[in-house]
Amino acid sequence: MYPLRRNRRLRTNDAIRHLVRETIITPSDFLVPLFVVDGKGVKEEIASMPNYYRLSIDTLEKEAKELWNMGLCAVLLFVKVPENLKDNKGTEALNANGLMQQAIKAVKSVCPDMLVMTDVALDPYSSFGHDGIVQDGQILNDETSEILAEMSVSHANAGADFVAPSDMMDGRILTIREALEDEGYLNTGIMSYSAKYASAFYGPFRDALDSAPVAMNNVPKDKKTYQMDVANRFEAITETQADIDEGADIVMVKPGLAYLDIVREIRNEVDVPVAVYQVSGEYAMLKAAAEKGWLDHDAVMMEQLIAIKRAGANIIASYFAKDAVKLMG
Ligand code: PBG
Repeated sequence: MYPLRRNRRLRTNDAIRHLVRETIITPSDFLVPLFVVDGKGVKEEIASMPNYYRLSIDTLEKEAKELWNMGLCAVLLFVKVPENLKDNKGTEALNANGLMQQAIKAVKSVCPDMLVMTDVALDPYSSFGHDGIVQDGQILNDETSEILAEMSVSHANAGADFVAPSDMMDGRILTIREALEDEGYLNTGIMSYSAKYASAFYGPFRDALDSAPVAMNNVPKDKKTYQMDVANRFEAITETQADIDEGADIVMVKPGLAYLDIVREIRNEVDVPVAVYQVSGEYAMLKAAAEKGWLDHDAVMMEQLIAIKRAGANIIASYFAKDAVKLMG
């Protein structure tokens, strides 16, 4: 009771504040998303993601080495697929010599110990911009899961350490796990996007990969029949528990900042590592405000990352990873 307890004593100076600090961000907290495109020598800035780039295989190798040297030892790969290779079933995703498969090998060739995770979903390969096969205005669940399982095996075969299904089909973790086991990939991990919301924060990412759902008759205009309703909390636990039961090694909550109540809830509920994806829209908002001089970029960035970790994240997928690590010096 006051004055016996004066809470400000623990805030008197840097030394005591450091001593009692509960949450510290380090390079090993991060998973770095990378966007891969066709071509050579390509490093093109994404319009809605300032200072973030699409990279061709050769520039990807350079980037991987740079990340590794900064202590960033885990990447999450996404590909931008040429329009002419897209179809309803994502056939190109299974091409053993496709962009993703090449990207995995490229990163492994320059940084053999880099943890390589791959996005598993149909949307960058889909002519309709959906994470599953579209038929009669619906997204087919089980047929999609079968393709995701084949895709996962293909990524494992190219050398991926973890596959990261971001599609939200029901039962896909079990289908993928069984396929990996059947093919002998016993040590290939699964990081499941388990509580992934139908969020409007993904806009810049869809620009980056040109993967937004297309406006067309009989094609759902959004992803609300598979991604979660932003208003729901209990469902996040059901989804996450199901994915763990089906064999997910790591689970994920996405987006980050607006969903930290869910992160805490999941962290309290489950016993596997919890990843949080601080998504493209979160990145874009801060970059835009900082460009206008309205927010202190570095201070707000660190505050947000600490908030995500404090909420319970064990792993943070973030476009700010490099910026943050540079700041740590
Ligand atoms: C698609 C996928 C999305 C993101 C990761 N994987 C977009 C979507 O679901 O439409 C979003 C990531 C971001 O916004 O940074 N499977």
